[in-house]
Amino acid sequence: MSIESVETGSIYYDPYDYEIDRDPHPVWRRMREEAPVYWNERYEFFALSRFQDVWDAYHDTATFSSSHGVELERLDRPVEQPMMIFMDPPEHDRLRALVSKAFTPGRVRRLEESITALVDEYLDPFRGTSGFDFVRDFGALLPPVVIGELLGVPAADRDLFRTWNDQLLHREEGQTEPGEEAAEAGRAMFLYTLEMIAERRRRPREDLITALTRAEVQDAGGVRTLTEDEVVFFVLLLAGAGVETVARLLSWTAVVLARNPDQRALLAADPSLVPGAIEELLRFEAPSPVNGRWTTRPVEVQGVTIPAESKVLLLNGSANRDPREFADPDRFDVRRSIGRHITFGFGAHFCLGAALARMEGRLALAGTLRRFPVWEIDESELVPVHTSTVRGFSSVPVHLA
Ligand code: HEM
Repeated sequence: MSIESVETGSIYYDPYDYEIDRDPHPVWRRMREEAPVYWNERYEFFALSRFQDVWDAYHDTATFSSSHGVELERLDRPVEQPMMIFMDPPEHDRLRALVSKAFTPGRVRRLEESITALVDEYLDPFRGTSGFDFVRDFGALLPPVVIGELLGVPAADRDLFRTWNDQLLHREEGQTEPGEEAAEAGRAMFLYTLEMIAERRRRPREDLITALTRAEVQDAGGVRTLTEDEVVFFVLLLAGAGVETVARLLSWTAVVLARNPDQRALLAADPSLVPGAIEELLRFEAPSPVNGRWTTRPVEVQGVTIPAESKVLLLNGSANRDPREFADPDRFDVRRSIGRHITFGFGAHFCLGAALARMEGRLALAGTLRRFPVWEIDESELVPVHTSTVRGFSSVPVHLA
């Protein structure tokens, strides 16, 4: 079958449409059933929506390349920044092996105590009040400080680092590219990180920056370490990948649990259900539901040939609601047993920070339920975030009894 004969009928989907983005599940359901290889004429992209198709595409990096990035608006040109998320194997795998020597599970586990303390620090002031903004006062504040802690940013610079992070990710309304403020914050963070690297070379510490400067791997050319540029771009990647996503996960946590008070009551009564609830939240409303790829060669999916040099969106958020993979997928069930979901991608680029994201989610939710087992939201007060890759809310006022 050729592009022309892909029958997408009356289905319309694009990730920029605010109205669709408010609740994309109905259109994703139709795409899975009627147009599993969907073609969007206006923005000229294909979209895969079934679990197995998305899963297979993530594993076929030779066909579905990351070299053009993951954002729809930039998929028509290669990305210049030397970040591993924009590289394909084998180049990607060499860099990932190196950073993985420093970004270890043990290092992530050691953050548990400080994350617990941060959750207490952010939430305690709201005890006995009538409410607070779950994202602005908590969910958006926690992730950049955790990344700073992981890297070894001194406590005195915590707020500075967080402000740069906010500016780096900020997009003016209607703009998809970073503005001058974001570019300036990127430069400031770049220089700051270079200075941190120099300082850690002089005085090593028990932090990620020190570990990154020391990490070595043996490859065909001999022993290799990270260049300074690679360390700095990795820090910028962590800031980009590990802040916005976790903030959106926490926004969904407040919203989905308020919409499902019976499930929340189960969690409040039995905190051992919290890790499973985070997994279900990740499945139910993926914070990064759309991930772009660029095809290097023609590929056939569900009888449709996607030509070489096509933009393809992998719809994680739809794959996670595919009834071929999950029983009763539109039911939010904190006791669901989940074998696999695609919220963190899969294959070569599987999210490096998945364990950290899960831990942040778990500690944030447990800390919330301990203090505030019940809250209400007013749907009209929610402020959605609009980007082509991330979905969630930038403001979720919660009303306490
Ligand atoms: C709920 C939170 C998170 C979600 C939903 C999420 C989602 C994802 C997804 C879908 C990918 C795959 C991208 C692709 O295949 O193109 C990815 C990659 C990545 N994530 Fe996450 N992420 C989260 C949190 C984090 C955190 C906390 C960190 C860091 C501390 C992080 C660091 C990374 C990095 C470095 C990659 C690139 C891996 C590679 O290219 O090999 N993420 N993430």
